[in-house]
Amino acid sequence: MNTPGAGRAAIVCGLGTCVPPYALTNEELSTLVDTSDAWIRSRTGIGRRHIADASTATSDLAIEAGGRALKSASAEGNTAVDAVIVATTTPDHPCPATAPLVAARLGLGTVPAFDVAAVCTGFLYGLAAGAGLIAAGTAERVLVIGAETFSRILDPEDRSGRAIFGDGAGAVVLRAGEPDEPGALGPFDLGSDGTGSDLITVRTGGSRDPYPTAGDAADPYFRMNGKAVFRNAVERMTESSRRVLTARTDWTGGLPDLVVAHQANLRILHAVADRIGVDRADCFVNIDRVGNTAAASIPLALGDADRSGALSAGRRVLLTAFGGGLTWGACTLTWPDIQPA
Ligand code: UT7
Repeated sequence: MNTPGAGRAAIVCGLGTCVPPYALTNEELSTLVDTSDAWIRSRTGIGRRHIADASTATSDLAIEAGGRALKSASAEGNTAVDAVIVATTTPDHPCPATAPLVAARLGLGTVPAFDVAAVCTGFLYGLAAGAGLIAAGTAERVLVIGAETFSRILDPEDRSGRAIFGDGAGAVVLRAGEPDEPGALGPFDLGSDGTGSDLITVRTGGSRDPYPTAGDAADPYFRMNGKAVFRNAVERMTESSRRVLTARTDWTGGLPDLVVAHQANLRILHAVADRIGVDRADCFVNIDRVGNTAAASIPLALGDADRSGALSAGRRVLLTAFGGGLTWGACTLTWPDIQPA
């Protein structure tokens, strides 16, 4: 884990979000697979999720959210960035990365652009990578986007996956600044455990199991061992959160005003809040409206939290996430005075 200290910090100075217009309710999903509104609400807290239409790819959502974040950041009079990072589990294509296309279509010129693949932890990993570029002096301003069209990799027969996951995108602009400024990210705690790599998978289509030789065993769909993932998610997000909170010696009481966690499952969010000693009411929830949007989850939640008034300038915020890999992480910041777009 890094510790806050001297040197350049990455400051959140813009935020943009986007979900596709169509919202699939639990009631409508119940007509497509064997499930019910009561089961989904009680097991996950989800009421609906947004689904992209067939002509919309991950880059389209990323560009919309990224453009809005740049607009939000332009209040400071600067619309340029030096680098673009896209965190996604559902890139437009296996090759090349989605970020260069996003940078080009946003008119950002020939800036470095790359994807981060850490599934639901991707946005936190992307923030850490962006903060690293700034700390090293490689960039002054970085656009970090989390974007997913998760509905594309779900098995139409998988009632559990279809109940949980949705599509969307969120983005922030980071700029170089001082560690004690509002919006400064840090410390970060990041981790992985590849011994659990079989718990969340899309098996076919990579070098281990390529399509041409996979034959009848080919499985292009997302698979998750829900129970094992649930247990790991609670444990890892709790530990990671505790580590960054312990390092925040400047926070009286050692607790955040608001937890903005990856919206994995409402029961997971409550279990993490209980374990770190935060009131459940101080754990922001928008999973009821957007479902689990993987790498897009945290920036979408930040946007909704700011717009709802749950986040305002000066509030102490804990971010935490868990995802396939297995991967996890946490980070803190004091919320800056920004206008999400
Ligand atoms: O985003 C980061 C990674 N993801 C997560 O953190 C998600 C973690 N896991 C979970 O959120 C939960 O494990 C799930 C929501 C995926 C599943 O909930 P669960 O309480 O662990 O259910 P389960 O898989 O143990 O299934 C319990 C029962 C089963 O029926 P039987 O075998 O007991 O008769 C399932 O077939 O619920 C059934 N079931 C459903 N029933 C109605 C599973 N999905 C559904 C469904 N509708 N959509």
